[in-house]
Amino acid sequence: MKMLLLLLPVIALCCTSQDKYFKLVDYYPGSQDTNVILTASHDGWIKLDSIPDRRQGCYDNITDTCDWRHDCPGEHVTGKCKATTHSDTLSSVLAKQMRKTISDKTGKTPHLVVSRLHRSKLDPNRFKDDAAQYNSVAEGAYDTFHGIIKRVHNILAAGGPAVHFDIHGYRALSSHNTDNWTEIGYNIQPARLNADNFTAEESSLRALAARAAARGIEFDSLVRGEDSLGKLVQEEGFRVVPSPEYPRPEMGIKGKYMRGGYITRKWGSLNGGEIDCVQIEFPQWIRDDSEFYGPKLGSAMATWIQKYYPGKY
Ligand SMILES: *[C@@H]1O[C@H](CO)[C@@H](O)[C@H](O)[C@H]1NC(C)=O
Ligand SMILES: *[C@@H]1O[C@H](CO)[C@@H](O)[C@H](O)[C@H]1NC(C)=O
Ligand SMILES: *[C@@H]1O[C@H](CO)[C@@H](O)[C@H](O)[C@H]1NC(C)=O
Repeated sequence: MKMLLLLLPVIALCCTSQDKYFKLVDYYPGSQDTNVILTASHDGWIKLDSIPDRRQGCYDNITDTCDWRHDCPGEHVTGKCKATTHSDTLSSVLAKQMRKTISDKTGKTPHLVVSRLHRSKLDPNRFKDDAAQYNSVAEGAYDTFHGIIKRVHNILAAGGPAVHFDIHGYRALSSHNTDNWTEIGYNIQPARLNADNFTAEESSLRALAARAAARGIEFDSLVRGEDSLGKLVQEEGFRVVPSPEYPRPEMGIKGKYMRGGYITRKWGSLNGGEIDCVQIEFPQWIRDDSEFYGPKLGSAMATWIQKYYPGKY
């Protein structure tokens, strides 16, 4: 009976006008009573020849904006309008392991959406002009990816508070690797964490912050203290920021930290609604051994979910 219900979202999705792009996005439906969605936007592997590689845009120094058309008339300025094209390899494999553990621990299987196009062709974690650079096939895949998220969010919203995890990873050669830690992003800028000066209003956890405040939990504690996801991940044996051990990114060697991207801002509760969003960046060695680390991370996430998103069912 339960399985039949699970198939419904797939059937609904199969018959839209975007059907021909569906194979560029994988959707793993969650159980009917879940209030969790996972996305992996940067682990795609398909490099369609028909889509030119994404490239640097033209910079307009008056409006401080980028023109992402491949025939843009302006200048390519060093350090501006850069297109990041490397993939966060194995982040979707890690997300699948987390989904399984969250399912085992909570009895509810999260939804999972995976972009299959390589990031050199599509970057769903950007505004559409930057993401697809005006290629119609890439734009179709972008609309499908975000369209599925929208459908799932609509289903989740009907059930009350919910949470969206966007799973990422940084490259072995990047300066993040010096600290070799896991970065949990709630859209709070690193400078604000370093200054101990941030508010729930600027975060993608805004809805949770309000509910937690009603229970007497301070936002600082929710982000990096006793009541944080960082604490639970730390207790599983990981170096993680922000957390009780590393409340400020500057406490690291290089202190590199990603606060979350387009998906975190678009799909979190920053601008309202009851669905929060958390971006998590993992080093490569964790993704390389997802079978070992995925269950530990999924377990920390499940504990956090049960505490703050118990659900109505
Ligand atoms: C802005 O760009 C124009 C055209 O490339 C250039 O002449 C001008 O010096 C730039 N202005 C600034 C403030 O960088
Ligand atoms: C990062 O930590 C892992 C696990 O402890 C270790 O195997 C790896 O060598 C470290 N990498 C760097 C660059 O420190
Ligand atoms: C905290 O940030 C706000 C907004 O940027 C700023 O106006 C304020 O001066 C800062 N407070 C401290 C103590 O730095």
